[in-house]
Amino acid sequence: MDHSNYVIDQMISAKSIAARVEDLAAEISEKFADTDKLIVVGLLRGSFVFISDLVRELELPVEVDFLEASSYGNSTESSREVRILKDLRGEIEGRDVLVVEDIVDTGYTLTHVTNLLKSRNPKRLEVCALLDKPSRREVDIKATWTGFEIPDEFVVGYGIDYAQRNRNLPYIGKVRFLSE
Ligand code: IMP
Ligand code: MG
Repeated sequence: MDHSNYVIDQMISAKSIAARVEDLAAEISEKFADTDKLIVVGLLRGSFVFISDLVRELELPVEVDFLEASSYGNSTESSREVRILKDLRGEIEGRDVLVVEDIVDTGYTLTHVTNLLKSRNPKRLEVCALLDKPSRREVDIKATWTGFEIPDEFVVGYGIDYAQRNRNLPYIGKVRFLSE
């Protein structure tokens, strides 16, 4: 199949995403209400739109940091081997930490990242994922908060890419490959 030929069908509208982000932020603000500062860790690059909307809805003192783990490359299949390409700038020992991820798919990325961050002894570590594809799970892990559960479809938009394209779409769409 020729993977350069595809169309994008809208799955979750910008309006639905905004409403869900508000709800998630309210729950997170409540959970961390007593924090002196929440370190919000965005996983690059897919979470950059989500984290920017989410932090603006948090009613907490917040610090933003980023971490980049290797993912799919240019394919639509998980490599199952996770490497850290860019580490945090700040220390998280004894701190409240919220990891923000775009999609939990097989679960390998989130497992690797949370194990790494837990080894640095944060006071609390929770995870907020925009999307979850539970039917794809190979490692038993779940985010504390999930925006939307979706079926096994390859999605793009709202920060999420296919071969580095379509991150700028304001909605989440599913990629439909066209045969010749
Ligand atoms: P996992 O390690 O298999 O859970 O993969 C998680 C990562 O794969 C996510 O952070 C995304 O970057 C990427 N990913 C998983 N599903 C999709 C998708 O449908 N579209 C684009 N990227 C995806
Ligand atoms: Mg990712």
